[in-house]
Amino acid sequence: VSLPQRQSAIVIARAGGPEVLEWRDVAVPVPRAGEVLIEVQAAGVNRHDCNQRRRGPSAAHSDIPGLEVAGTIVDMGHGVDRARLGEAVCALVDGGGYAHYVLACADQTLPLPAGLGATAAAALPEAAFTVWHNFFELARLAPGEAVLLHGGTSGVGTLAIQVLSALGHAVYATCGTSAKCEVARALGARDAFSYRDPDWVGRVHAATQGRGVDVILDMSGAQHSAHDVQVLAQGGRLLHLSPGNGAELRVPLRAVLAKGLSIGGSLLRPLAAQRKALIARELRRTLWPLLEAGRVRPVVHQCLPLAQAAEAHRVMESGQLMGKLVLVPGAQAGADRPMGLEAQPPQRNLA
Ligand SMILES: NC(=O)c1ccc[n+]([C@@H]2O[C@H](COP(=O)([O-])OP(=O)(O)OC[C@H]3O[C@@H](n4cnc5c(N)ncnc54)[C@H](OP(=O)(O)O)[C@@H]3O)[C@@H](O)[C@H]2O)c1
Repeated sequence: VSLPQRQSAIVIARAGGPEVLEWRDVAVPVPRAGEVLIEVQAAGVNRHDCNQRRRGPSAAHSDIPGLEVAGTIVDMGHGVDRARLGEAVCALVDGGGYAHYVLACADQTLPLPAGLGATAAAALPEAAFTVWHNFFELARLAPGEAVLLHGGTSGVGTLAIQVLSALGHAVYATCGTSAKCEVARALGARDAFSYRDPDWVGRVHAATQGRGVDVILDMSGAQHSAHDVQVLAQGGRLLHLSPGNGAELRVPLRAVLAKGLSIGGSLLRPLAAQRKALIARELRRTLWPLLEAGRVRPVVHQCLPLAQAAEAHRVMESGQLMGKLVLVPGAQAGADRPMGLEAQPPQRNLA
């Protein structure tokens, strides 16, 4: 099958709002050694894409946003088994996802989980790699430990709640509204609290019989740091996902020492390719069976045609969404209609 040399893609034309996302004619990339070319059926949207758009084009990265896709392998570079041609995969990608064709490292692709379509599968990689890296590699979450997630209905949060509760952990979450707290509970959180409630710390203590939680994943840009330290149990770990707007970390040091806490954070995108490959292997071993058993389902808030990427960014920045946004290129896009909380976990009513 001959591949086109040109394609349409969404490009960040300059720094700014969603209107700087332009639909352009660009080259179809050519896979190098160890890479595959994926024909994109669906591309996940992440908060990172909005931040990249606001900063504008950079020499460091592709000007085509998009960190995760689902689609079909249509070409490969040296060293990749040619038997993989035609394989349906989802993949973590280093930019370029808002397009018809994108490159991925072959070992950062995962098979489409049985029972999941491309739309749901495209919503998986960024959140799944982030959850695994932070909770299991960095925080070394142990069996029976309790966790708290800020941003319980974010793309990361909606997956984390399901994965961690399926693995037997007590999961607590904070959210910005009571409706979002309801959704977090419906996804499996033992309880969820509004972070606007001045006593959310007291509520977490009450829910954990005064013990607190062992690990916190915080995407608030350090807004909750002092409270996080209060709510962590002895030996607790606090991991930050978002640097905020140049935020500084201020914590009561005495409590950090007295409780023996560890505070850190990470960025997934610059993580070495070999480490991402190891995470992919772990996800296949641990998360894929949960997905294929229907115990974990990506929550897709809305699916839009790729040409409407700017609208997807407006929805993301409105703060209204719960779960993920997904872009679908070409004729496969179908109607521009909200899909609601698609692909819910079985027997849980999110209505
Ligand atoms: N470091 C990494 O490797 C990495 C990887 C993936 C994601 N991230 C970051 O993780 C976050 C989630 O990503 P996403 O794509 O899933 O984004 P998203 O769906 O847009 O979610 C953003 C979340 O941040 C929450 N939030 C904002 N201000 C908050 C506050 N003061 N306290 C508590 N929560 C607050 C929001 O909660 P409410 O709506 O309830 O206010 C919302 O759920 C983003 O900040 C993203 O940049 C980092």
